[in-house]
Amino acid sequence: MPGLSGPSDYSQEPSRHPCLHINAKEPFNAEPPRSALVSSYVTPVELFFKRNHGPIPLVDDIERYCVDISGLIETPKKLYFRDIRMLPKYNVTATLQCAGNRRTAMSITRKVKGVGWDVSAIGNAVWGGAKLADILELIGVPKLTSCTQSGGKHIEFVSVDKCEEENGGPYKASIPLSQATNPEADVLLAYEMNGEPLNRDHGYPLRVIVPGVIGARSVKWLDSINIIAEECQGFFMQKDYKMFPPSVDWGNINWNTRKPQMDFPVQSVICSLEDMQSIKPGKVRISGYAVSGGGCGIERVDVSIDGGKTWMEATRFQKTGIPYIADGISNDKWAWVLFELTVDIPQSTEIIAKAIQLQMCNLKRCKIFGT
Ligand code: MTE
Repeated sequence: MPGLSGPSDYSQEPSRHPCLHINAKEPFNAEPPRSALVSSYVTPVELFFKRNHGPIPLVDDIERYCVDISGLIETPKKLYFRDIRMLPKYNVTATLQCAGNRRTAMSITRKVKGVGWDVSAIGNAVWGGAKLADILELIGVPKLTSCTQSGGKHIEFVSVDKCEEENGGPYKASIPLSQATNPEADVLLAYEMNGEPLNRDHGYPLRVIVPGVIGARSVKWLDSINIIAEECQGFFMQKDYKMFPPSVDWGNINWNTRKPQMDFPVQSVICSLEDMQSIKPGKVRISGYAVSGGGCGIERVDVSIDGGKTWMEATRFQKTGIPYIADGISNDKWAWVLFELTVDIPQSTEIIAKAIQLQMCNLKRCKIFGT
């Protein structure tokens, strides 16, 4: 691609904040200390987790940089950076989370492959850019389309980075066309993060942001967009980021039996304490984040200080001065909710946080007694 290229080594990596905990150096994968996440509702760019699968691409000429849009559409088109910047700009506050977040803790129960992460492969940012739905309309695909006349049902995003998993080819992923053409899904081609141009680590000059969906689908350093009939066949859609039952292991896995993971599930994490920590008995402030994918709100966050026997409701907040209500119109529906509760801890105990998503209860216990 003219204007943007993917290096084949790590000699031109950008500089990074010394606070980041490095989980892998090359490709660079790092997360901030968990306490930094609850210091601000919008995560500062330098403390935002960085998740890469190859060397960071370089822009050699922004004037020549363009995105090729082709595939199952009538008229393929090249969109230059300046064309994209001319479209209406939207600012969307969205939490980006890697599907590998908390892998280190998961591995205690059962070994998980891949880069290990504590609880901070997540961050909340204000992304600025053009809506993908507007861009697709520009090339003749109307809003709310689920299939083009020539049978296109998915939108594939292709980058320029050289990834080992793709045998030196670029990172790629896709989303359904129905999501891409729905203006309410807020899918962006973003050129700003927290009011500044994207930096190299986060996808300069242009990246996809798919709110409410695992970070793997938010392709950085966008090179081309293909309208395709089936979902993307790349490694990160077909051979990673899928969910299997416990009976499946690396010996009997059949990747084709599962769909790629998209919306991330509801969860909550305590960030003001480490997993094991000594503290003085007395008043302790417990705070953390709760998040659910697909734009579902967080109805409640409960905290237990006796290992799950009894529960207390925590206060939830997003912006200062505006109360958080799960389905409130002033909420950032794609963003996390921070929570806090001050409790009295008399002795050694186990503290648990539990988030409840607005629209779902997915746990049902039945007690069966054999006779
Ligand atoms: N896009 C490209 N081109 N290359 C990548 O390695 N990593 C993906 C996604 N987009 C990746 C990519 C993954 S797995 C995640 S979680 C997010 O980018 C991380 O985005 P960040 O580094 O801006 O936090």
